[in-house]
Amino acid sequence: MAKDLSFSCSECGAVTSKWSGKCDSCNAWNTIQEDKGLSKGPAKKSLGAMRGKAIELTDLASKTAPPPRTMSGVGELDRVLGGGLVAGSAVIVGGDPGIGKSTLLLQAAARFARNGLKVVYISGEESTNQIQMRAERLGLTESPVRLASETNLRDILTTLETEAPDLAIIDSIQTMWADNVDSAPGSVSQVRASAHELTSFAKSRNMSVVLVGHVTKEGAIAGPRVVEHMVDTVLYFEGERGHQFRILRSVKNRFGPADEIGVFEMTGKGLAEVKNPSALFLSERGTPAPGSVVFAGVEGTRPMLCEIQALVAPSPHSQPRRSVVGWDGARLAMIIAVLEARCDVAFGGLDVYLNVAGGLRISEPAADLAVAAALVSAREDASLPREGVIFGEISLSGALRPVSQTENRLKEAEKLGFTSAICPQQKKNVAVGALNLRQPQDLAGFVKDVFGAR
Ligand code: TYD
Ligand code: MG
Repeated sequence: MAKDLSFSCSECGAVTSKWSGKCDSCNAWNTIQEDKGLSKGPAKKSLGAMRGKAIELTDLASKTAPPPRTMSGVGELDRVLGGGLVAGSAVIVGGDPGIGKSTLLLQAAARFARNGLKVVYISGEESTNQIQMRAERLGLTESPVRLASETNLRDILTTLETEAPDLAIIDSIQTMWADNVDSAPGSVSQVRASAHELTSFAKSRNMSVVLVGHVTKEGAIAGPRVVEHMVDTVLYFEGERGHQFRILRSVKNRFGPADEIGVFEMTGKGLAEVKNPSALFLSERGTPAPGSVVFAGVEGTRPMLCEIQALVAPSPHSQPRRSVVGWDGARLAMIIAVLEARCDVAFGGLDVYLNVAGGLRISEPAADLAVAAALVSAREDASLPREGVIFGEISLSGALRPVSQTENRLKEAEKLGFTSAICPQQKKNVAVGALNLRQPQDLAGFVKDVFGAR
Protein backbone atom coordinates (compact mmCIF):
# COMPACT_ATOMS: atom_id res chain seq x y z
CA MET A 1 0.00 0.00 0.00
CA ALA A 2 1.33 3.45 -0.86
CA LYS A 3 2.49 5.43 2.16
CA ASP A 4 0.59 8.64 2.93
CA LEU A 5 3.19 11.34 2.37
CA SER A 6 2.84 14.99 3.05
CA PHE A 7 5.17 17.83 2.04
CA SER A 8 5.38 21.40 3.18
CA CYS A 9 7.19 24.55 2.12
CA SER A 10 9.80 25.76 4.58
CA GLU A 11 9.27 29.37 3.44
CA CYS A 12 5.53 29.86 3.62
CA GLY A 13 4.34 26.71 5.38
CA ALA A 14 2.00 25.60 2.54
CA VAL A 15 1.21 21.86 2.61
CA THR A 16 1.06 19.75 -0.58
CA SER A 17 0.66 16.07 -1.28
CA LYS A 18 3.54 15.77 -3.74
CA TRP A 19 7.07 17.06 -4.02
CA SER A 20 7.95 19.76 -6.52
CA GLY A 21 10.93 22.01 -7.14
CA LYS A 22 8.96 25.19 -6.72
CA CYS A 23 6.32 26.08 -4.15
CA ASP A 24 2.99 26.93 -5.80
CA SER A 25 2.00 29.31 -3.01
CA CYS A 26 5.06 31.52 -2.58
CA ASN A 27 7.03 30.62 -5.75
CA ALA A 28 10.21 29.89 -3.76
CA TRP A 29 12.55 27.23 -5.20
CA ASN A 30 13.86 24.13 -3.38
CA THR A 31 11.79 24.72 -0.28
CA ILE A 32 9.40 21.74 -0.43
CA GLN A 33 10.33 19.09 2.12
CA GLU A 34 8.77 15.87 3.27
CA ASP A 35 6.99 16.19 6.62
CA LYS A 36 8.19 13.46 8.88
CA GLY A 37 5.91 12.03 11.50
CA LEU A 38 2.73 13.12 9.79
CA SER A 39 2.12 9.79 7.98
CA LYS A 40 -0.70 7.94 9.60
CA GLY A 41 0.13 5.06 11.96
CA PRO A 42 -2.31 2.41 13.14
CA ALA A 43 -5.53 3.88 14.47
CA LYS A 44 -5.24 4.77 18.14
CA LYS A 45 -7.97 4.47 20.74
CA SER A 46 -9.99 7.67 20.97
CA LEU A 47 -8.96 10.03 23.78
CA GLY A 48 -12.39 9.89 25.39
CA ALA A 49 -12.01 6.17 26.01
CA MET A 50 -8.91 6.68 28.16
CA ARG A 51 -8.99 8.52 31.44
CA GLY A 52 -6.73 11.55 31.88
CA LYS A 53 -6.43 13.59 35.03
CA ALA A 54 -9.21 15.98 36.03
CA ILE A 55 -8.45 19.66 35.47
CA GLU A 56 -9.21 22.08 38.26
CA LEU A 57 -11.78 24.67 37.22
CA THR A 58 -12.04 28.15 38.67
CA ASP A 59 -14.37 31.19 38.84
CA LEU A 60 -14.30 34.20 36.55
CA ALA A 61 -13.47 36.42 39.53
CA SER A 62 -9.73 36.36 40.04
CA LYS A 63 -8.26 35.82 43.47
CA THR A 64 -4.79 37.00 42.51
CA ALA A 65 -3.74 40.59 41.90
CA PRO A 66 -3.38 41.68 38.24
CA PRO A 67 0.19 41.37 36.93
CA PRO A 68 2.34 44.41 37.72
CA ARG A 69 3.06 46.93 34.96
CA THR A 70 6.18 48.97 34.54
CA MET A 71 6.12 52.37 32.89
CA SER A 72 8.98 53.30 30.60
CA GLY A 73 8.36 56.98 31.17
CA VAL A 74 7.96 57.45 27.41
CA GLY A 75 4.28 58.39 27.34
CA GLU A 76 3.79 57.49 23.68
CA LEU A 77 5.16 53.97 24.26
CA ASP A 78 3.37 53.32 27.56
CA ARG A 79 0.02 54.27 26.08
CA VAL A 80 0.43 51.91 23.11
CA LEU A 81 1.32 49.08 25.50
CA GLY A 82 -2.01 49.73 27.28
CA GLY A 83 -0.48 51.54 30.26
CA GLY A 84 3.06 50.19 30.63
CA LEU A 85 4.73 46.82 30.12
CA VAL A 86 2.95 43.88 31.76
CA ALA A 87 5.23 41.46 33.62
CA GLY A 88 5.46 38.12 31.81
CA SER A 89 3.95 39.39 28.55
CA ALA A 90 5.18 38.76 25.02
CA VAL A 91 5.25 41.63 22.55
CA ILE A 92 6.24 41.76 18.90
CA VAL A 93 7.25 44.99 17.19
CA GLY A 94 7.03 44.72 13.41
CA GLY A 95 8.13 47.17 10.76
CA ASP A 96 10.07 47.71 7.55
CA PRO A 97 13.85 47.41 7.71
CA GLY A 98 15.46 50.74 8.60
CA ILE A 99 12.32 52.31 10.05
CA GLY A 100 13.85 52.57 13.56
CA LYS A 101 12.84 49.43 15.49
CA SER A 102 16.29 48.83 16.97
CA THR A 103 16.56 52.49 17.93
CA LEU A 104 13.14 52.46 19.60
CA LEU A 105 13.84 49.28 21.55
CA LEU A 106 17.31 50.32 22.68
CA GLN A 107 15.82 53.57 24.01
CA ALA A 108 12.94 51.66 25.64
CA ALA A 109 15.40 49.14 27.15
CA ALA A 110 17.36 51.96 28.75
CA ARG A 111 14.19 53.56 30.13
CA PHE A 112 12.88 50.30 31.59
CA ALA A 113 16.29 49.55 33.09
CA ARG A 114 16.33 52.98 34.69
CA ASN A 115 12.90 52.27 36.16
CA GLY A 116 14.15 49.17 37.95
CA LEU A 117 13.80 46.28 35.49
CA LYS A 118 16.70 43.98 34.74
CA VAL A 119 16.96 44.19 30.95
CA VAL A 120 18.88 42.00 28.49
CA TYR A 121 19.14 43.11 24.83
CA ILE A 122 20.15 40.42 22.36
CA SER A 123 20.79 41.31 18.75
CA GLY A 124 21.19 38.79 15.97
CA GLU A 125 21.70 41.52 13.40
CA GLU A 126 24.39 43.82 14.72
CA SER A 127 27.65 43.33 16.59
CA THR A 128 27.90 44.53 20.20
CA ASN A 129 30.26 47.18 18.86
CA GLN A 130 27.64 48.63 16.54
CA ILE A 131 25.03 48.67 19.29
CA GLN A 132 27.45 50.35 21.69
CA MET A 133 28.08 53.03 19.06
CA ARG A 134 24.36 53.58 18.73
CA ALA A 135 23.99 53.71 22.53
CA GLU A 136 26.67 56.38 22.61
CA ARG A 137 24.90 58.40 19.92
CA LEU A 138 21.66 58.13 21.90
CA GLY A 139 23.40 59.05 25.16
CA LEU A 140 22.47 55.76 26.84
CA THR A 141 25.86 54.32 27.76
CA GLU A 142 25.26 54.86 31.50
CA SER A 143 22.14 52.71 31.53
CA PRO A 144 22.46 49.23 33.12
CA VAL A 145 21.19 47.27 30.08
CA ARG A 146 23.06 43.99 29.47
CA LEU A 147 23.94 43.38 25.84
CA ALA A 148 24.94 40.46 23.58
CA SER A 149 25.15 39.65 19.89
CA GLU A 150 23.97 36.09 19.30
CA THR A 151 21.69 34.02 17.04
CA ASN A 152 21.83 30.57 18.61
CA LEU A 153 18.56 30.17 20.45
CA ARG A 154 19.78 27.34 22.68
CA ASP A 155 22.61 29.53 24.00
CA ILE A 156 20.28 32.50 24.38
CA LEU A 157 17.76 30.52 26.44
CA THR A 158 20.55 29.15 28.66
CA THR A 159 21.83 32.68 29.21
CA LEU A 160 18.35 33.99 30.02
CA GLU A 161 17.93 31.08 32.45
CA THR A 162 21.04 32.06 34.43
CA GLU A 163 20.67 35.84 34.13
CA ALA A 164 16.91 35.74 34.90
CA PRO A 165 16.11 39.24 33.57
CA ASP A 166 12.69 40.93 33.89
CA LEU A 167 12.73 41.87 30.22
CA ALA A 168 14.50 40.32 27.24
CA ILE A 169 14.60 42.08 23.88
CA ILE A 170 15.30 39.88 20.84
CA ASP A 171 16.30 41.79 17.69
CA SER A 172 15.15 40.16 15.43
CA ILE A 173 13.10 36.97 15.45
CA GLN A 174 14.09 36.33 11.80
CA THR A 175 17.77 35.98 12.71
CA MET A 176 17.20 33.43 15.49
CA TRP A 177 18.31 29.88 14.83
CA ALA A 178 16.84 26.93 16.71
CA ASP A 179 19.19 23.99 16.06
CA ASN A 180 16.42 21.42 16.46
CA VAL A 181 14.62 22.73 13.37
CA ASP A 182 15.87 21.72 9.98
CA SER A 183 15.62 24.91 7.94
CA ALA A 184 17.40 28.20 7.39
CA PRO A 185 17.04 31.16 9.80
CA GLY A 186 14.27 33.45 8.63
CA SER A 187 12.15 30.61 7.22
CA VAL A 188 8.65 30.22 8.58
CA SER A 189 9.41 27.04 10.51
CA GLN A 190 12.45 28.65 12.21
CA VAL A 191 10.55 31.83 13.06
CA ARG A 192 7.61 29.85 14.37
CA ALA A 193 9.80 27.56 16.49
CA SER A 194 11.94 30.40 17.86
CA ALA A 195 8.93 32.54 18.75
CA HIS A 196 7.26 29.59 20.43
CA GLU A 197 10.37 28.70 22.47
CA LEU A 198 10.91 32.31 23.54
CA THR A 199 7.33 33.08 24.47
CA SER A 200 6.77 29.85 26.41
CA PHE A 201 10.13 30.32 28.17
CA ALA A 202 9.11 33.88 29.07
CA LYS A 203 5.65 32.81 30.35
CA SER A 204 7.07 30.04 32.53
CA ARG A 205 9.57 32.44 34.18
CA ASN A 206 7.37 35.54 34.37
CA MET A 207 9.84 37.37 32.14
CA SER A 208 8.59 39.86 29.55
CA VAL A 209 9.92 39.39 26.06
CA VAL A 210 9.90 41.86 23.17
CA LEU A 211 10.56 40.41 19.73
CA VAL A 212 11.47 42.48 16.69
CA GLY A 213 9.98 41.25 13.43
CA HIS A 214 10.64 42.46 9.92
CA VAL A 215 7.56 42.64 7.78
CA THR A 216 7.43 40.79 4.47
CA LYS A 217 6.58 42.32 1.10
CA GLU A 218 2.93 41.52 1.75
CA GLY A 219 3.04 43.45 5.03
CA ALA A 220 2.73 40.57 7.50
CA ILE A 221 5.32 39.79 10.15
CA ALA A 222 7.50 36.85 9.03
CA GLY A 223 4.95 35.30 6.70
CA PRO A 224 1.26 34.72 7.14
CA ARG A 225 0.57 35.55 10.75
CA VAL A 226 2.81 32.85 12.19
CA VAL A 227 3.92 34.85 15.18
CA GLU A 228 1.01 37.17 15.80
CA HIS A 229 -1.20 34.64 17.58
CA MET A 230 1.59 33.48 19.89
CA VAL A 231 2.18 36.85 21.52
CA ASP A 232 0.00 39.06 23.73
CA THR A 233 0.66 42.32 21.94
CA VAL A 234 1.38 43.08 18.29
CA LEU A 235 2.76 46.53 17.53
CA TYR A 236 3.65 47.94 14.13
CA PHE A 237 6.21 50.67 13.70
CA GLU A 238 5.36 52.64 10.58
CA GLY A 239 6.40 55.74 8.73
CA GLU A 240 7.77 56.96 5.44
CA ARG A 241 11.51 56.84 4.95
CA GLY A 242 11.59 60.40 3.60
CA HIS A 243 9.63 61.80 6.54
CA GLN A 244 10.72 62.18 10.10
CA PHE A 245 7.71 61.03 12.05
CA ARG A 246 7.07 57.40 13.00
CA ILE A 247 3.88 55.83 14.33
CA LEU A 248 3.80 52.92 16.77
CA ARG A 249 0.42 51.24 16.39
CA SER A 250 -1.07 48.40 18.44
CA VAL A 251 -3.03 46.03 16.22
CA LYS A 252 -3.60 43.44 18.95
CA ASN A 253 -3.29 43.84 22.70
CA ARG A 254 -4.48 41.42 25.36
CA PHE A 255 -3.74 44.03 28.02
CA GLY A 256 -5.21 47.19 26.54
CA PRO A 257 -7.05 48.74 23.62
CA ALA A 258 -5.99 47.84 20.09
CA ASP A 259 -5.60 50.57 17.46
CA GLU A 260 -3.90 52.91 19.90
CA ILE A 261 -1.02 54.91 18.47
CA GLY A 262 2.12 56.62 19.69
CA VAL A 263 3.83 59.25 17.56
CA PHE A 264 7.60 59.74 17.44
CA GLU A 265 10.00 61.85 15.47
CA MET A 266 13.35 60.46 14.26
CA THR A 267 16.03 62.99 15.17
CA GLY A 268 19.82 62.91 15.12
CA LYS A 269 19.67 61.73 18.74
CA GLY A 270 17.14 58.94 18.28
CA LEU A 271 13.38 58.95 18.59
CA ALA A 272 11.65 61.83 20.34
CA GLU A 273 8.05 61.80 21.50
CA VAL A 274 5.55 63.91 19.59
CA LYS A 275 2.97 65.08 22.11
CA ASN A 276 0.93 67.07 19.62
CA PRO A 277 0.93 65.25 16.25
CA SER A 278 -1.68 67.51 14.64
CA ALA A 279 0.62 70.49 14.99
CA LEU A 280 3.41 68.46 13.37
CA PHE A 281 1.33 67.36 10.40
CA LEU A 282 -0.06 70.81 9.76
CA SER A 283 3.22 72.64 10.33
CA GLU A 284 4.20 72.71 6.65
CA ARG A 285 0.89 74.06 5.44
CA GLY A 286 1.30 77.18 3.33
CA THR A 287 -1.25 79.64 2.01
CA PRO A 288 -4.60 78.07 1.11
CA ALA A 289 -4.49 76.52 -2.36
CA PRO A 290 -7.20 74.84 -4.42
CA GLY A 291 -7.35 71.14 -3.57
CA SER A 292 -6.07 71.47 -0.02
CA VAL A 293 -8.34 70.46 2.87
CA VAL A 294 -7.72 69.87 6.57
CA PHE A 295 -9.18 66.57 7.70
CA ALA A 296 -10.00 66.08 11.38
CA GLY A 297 -9.10 62.41 11.85
CA VAL A 298 -8.83 60.08 14.80
CA GLU A 299 -6.25 57.32 15.27
CA GLY A 300 -7.13 55.05 18.17
CA THR A 301 -8.25 57.49 20.83
CA ARG A 302 -6.12 60.35 19.50
CA PRO A 303 -7.47 63.09 17.33
CA MET A 304 -5.10 63.88 14.50
CA LEU A 305 -5.50 66.72 12.06
CA CYS A 306 -3.80 66.43 8.68
CA GLU A 307 -3.89 67.97 5.25
CA ILE A 308 -5.39 66.16 2.25
CA GLN A 309 -4.28 67.45 -1.15
CA ALA A 310 -5.82 66.81 -4.54
CA LEU A 311 -4.75 67.77 -8.04
CA VAL A 312 -7.06 67.46 -11.03
CA ALA A 313 -5.66 68.07 -14.52
CA PRO A 314 -6.74 67.35 -18.11
CA SER A 315 -5.46 63.91 -19.08
CA PRO A 316 -3.38 63.27 -22.20
CA HIS A 317 -4.26 59.58 -21.94
CA SER A 318 -7.37 57.79 -23.15
CA GLN A 319 -7.60 56.23 -19.68
CA PRO A 320 -7.12 59.03 -17.11
CA ARG A 321 -4.82 58.38 -14.15
CA ARG A 322 -6.07 57.93 -10.59
CA SER A 323 -3.12 58.08 -8.23
CA VAL A 324 -3.31 57.92 -4.41
CA VAL A 325 -0.66 58.24 -1.70
CA GLY A 326 -1.70 57.59 1.91
CA TRP A 327 -5.29 56.53 1.25
CA ASP A 328 -7.21 53.67 -0.36
CA GLY A 329 -7.40 53.72 -4.18
CA ALA A 330 -10.69 51.82 -4.29
CA ARG A 331 -12.23 54.32 -1.88
CA LEU A 332 -11.08 57.21 -4.12
CA ALA A 333 -12.77 55.56 -7.11
CA MET A 334 -15.96 55.30 -5.05
CA ILE A 335 -15.91 58.97 -4.02
CA ILE A 336 -15.36 60.04 -7.65
CA ALA A 337 -18.27 57.84 -8.75
CA VAL A 338 -20.57 59.30 -6.08
CA LEU A 339 -19.54 62.86 -7.02
CA GLU A 340 -20.30 62.11 -10.68
CA ALA A 341 -23.58 60.29 -10.10
CA ARG A 342 -25.11 62.35 -7.26
CA CYS A 343 -23.59 65.81 -7.58
CA ASP A 344 -23.01 66.19 -11.29
CA VAL A 345 -19.29 66.83 -10.88
CA ALA A 346 -17.63 65.04 -13.82
CA PHE A 347 -14.08 63.70 -13.74
CA GLY A 348 -14.07 62.07 -17.21
CA GLY A 349 -10.92 62.95 -19.16
CA LEU A 350 -9.23 64.31 -16.03
CA ASP A 351 -6.22 62.88 -14.19
CA VAL A 352 -6.74 62.79 -10.41
CA TYR A 353 -3.93 62.76 -7.85
CA LEU A 354 -4.61 62.49 -4.12
CA ASN A 355 -2.01 62.83 -1.38
CA VAL A 356 -2.11 62.80 2.41
CA ALA A 357 0.56 65.34 3.35
CA GLY A 358 3.42 64.41 5.66
CA GLY A 359 3.51 60.75 4.62
CA LEU A 360 0.64 59.74 6.90
CA ARG A 361 -1.59 56.77 6.01
CA ILE A 362 -5.31 57.14 6.68
CA SER A 363 -7.71 54.21 6.73
CA GLU A 364 -10.78 55.85 8.24
CA PRO A 365 -13.93 56.21 6.09
CA ALA A 366 -14.37 59.48 7.99
CA ALA A 367 -11.94 61.01 5.48
CA ASP A 368 -14.50 60.59 2.64
CA LEU A 369 -15.94 64.08 2.92
CA ALA A 370 -12.52 65.71 3.19
CA VAL A 371 -11.39 63.83 0.07
CA ALA A 372 -14.53 64.83 -1.81
CA ALA A 373 -13.99 68.45 -0.75
CA ALA A 374 -10.36 68.34 -1.94
CA LEU A 375 -11.40 66.84 -5.28
CA VAL A 376 -14.13 69.40 -5.98
CA SER A 377 -11.92 72.25 -4.77
CA ALA A 378 -9.13 71.16 -7.15
CA ARG A 379 -11.50 70.63 -10.03
CA GLU A 380 -13.25 73.99 -9.58
CA ASP A 381 -9.95 75.74 -8.81
CA ALA A 382 -11.56 77.24 -5.69
CA SER A 383 -9.76 77.32 -2.35
CA LEU A 384 -11.56 76.42 0.85
CA PRO A 385 -11.32 78.71 3.88
CA ARG A 386 -7.99 78.20 5.63
CA GLU A 387 -9.41 78.00 9.13
CA GLY A 388 -11.92 75.13 8.64
CA VAL A 389 -11.78 71.37 9.11
CA ILE A 390 -13.87 68.71 7.37
CA PHE A 391 -14.81 65.09 8.14
CA GLY A 392 -17.61 62.58 7.50
CA GLU A 393 -18.40 59.33 5.77
CA ILE A 394 -20.14 59.27 2.37
CA SER A 395 -22.52 56.49 1.40
CA LEU A 396 -23.15 55.37 -2.18
CA SER A 397 -26.48 57.17 -2.18
CA GLY A 398 -24.63 60.43 -1.59
CA ALA A 399 -25.89 60.72 2.00
CA LEU A 400 -23.50 61.80 4.75
CA ARG A 401 -23.11 59.46 7.70
CA PRO A 402 -22.00 60.53 11.17
CA VAL A 403 -18.65 59.19 12.36
CA SER A 404 -17.32 58.22 15.77
CA GLN A 405 -15.67 60.62 18.20
CA THR A 406 -17.10 63.77 16.60
CA GLU A 407 -16.59 65.80 19.76
CA ASN A 408 -13.01 64.66 20.07
CA ARG A 409 -12.30 65.82 16.50
CA LEU A 410 -13.99 69.19 17.01
CA LYS A 411 -12.15 69.80 20.26
CA GLU A 412 -8.79 69.16 18.62
CA ALA A 413 -9.66 71.51 15.74
CA GLU A 414 -10.57 74.24 18.20
CA LYS A 415 -7.42 73.64 20.20
CA LEU A 416 -5.32 74.20 17.07
CA GLY A 417 -7.00 77.48 16.24
CA PHE A 418 -9.56 76.42 13.64
CA THR A 419 -12.80 78.37 13.73
CA SER A 420 -15.19 76.34 11.57
CA ALA A 421 -16.02 72.72 10.80
CA ILE A 422 -18.12 70.84 8.28
CA CYS A 423 -19.41 67.40 9.29
CA PRO A 424 -22.51 65.19 8.96
CA GLN A 425 -25.56 65.72 11.15
CA GLN A 426 -25.42 63.88 14.46
CA LYS A 427 -28.22 62.09 16.26
CA LYS A 428 -27.39 63.84 19.49
CA ASN A 429 -26.18 67.36 19.99
CA VAL A 430 -22.46 67.84 20.14
CA ALA A 431 -20.67 70.43 22.21
CA VAL A 432 -18.87 72.59 19.68
CA GLY A 433 -17.35 75.32 21.79
CA ALA A 434 -16.72 78.41 19.72
CA LEU A 435 -16.58 76.52 16.41
CA ASN A 436 -18.88 77.56 13.61
CA LEU A 437 -20.46 74.24 12.64
CA ARG A 438 -22.05 73.42 9.28
CA GLN A 439 -23.88 70.11 8.89
CA PRO A 440 -25.12 69.51 5.34
CA GLN A 441 -27.76 66.82 4.66
CA ASP A 442 -25.95 65.09 1.83
CA LEU A 443 -23.01 65.40 -0.53
CA ALA A 444 -24.95 67.39 -3.14
CA GLY A 445 -26.00 69.85 -0.42
CA PHE A 446 -22.39 70.12 0.72
CA VAL A 447 -21.06 70.84 -2.80
CA LYS A 448 -23.75 73.47 -3.37
CA ASP A 449 -23.19 75.02 0.03
CA VAL A 450 -19.42 75.27 -0.25
CA PHE A 451 -18.82 75.82 -3.94
CA GLY A 452 -22.08 77.54 -4.86
CA ALA A 453 -24.62 76.60 -7.52
CA ARG A 454 -22.92 75.15 -10.55
P1 TYD B 1 17.22 51.24 13.02
O1 TYD B 1 16.76 51.40 14.41
O2 TYD B 1 18.52 50.56 12.80
O3 TYD B 1 16.11 50.55 12.12
P2 TYD B 1 15.57 49.03 12.12
O4 TYD B 1 16.04 48.37 13.34
O5 TYD B 1 14.06 49.18 12.06
O6 TYD B 1 16.07 48.38 10.88
O7 TYD B 1 17.24 52.73 12.44
C1 TYD B 1 17.77 52.96 11.23
C2 TYD B 1 17.65 54.38 10.75
O8 TYD B 1 17.47 55.36 11.75
C3 TYD B 1 18.95 54.71 10.09
O9 TYD B 1 18.65 54.97 8.74
C4 TYD B 1 19.49 55.90 10.78
C5 TYD B 1 18.34 56.45 11.54
N1 TYD B 1 18.75 57.03 12.84
C6 TYD B 1 18.61 58.37 13.06
O10 TYD B 1 18.17 59.13 12.20
N2 TYD B 1 18.96 58.91 14.28
C7 TYD B 1 19.45 58.13 15.27
O11 TYD B 1 19.77 58.64 16.37
C8 TYD B 1 19.61 56.73 15.02
C9 TYD B 1 20.16 55.82 16.09
C10 TYD B 1 19.23 56.21 13.81
MG1 MG C 1 17.41 46.78 13.47
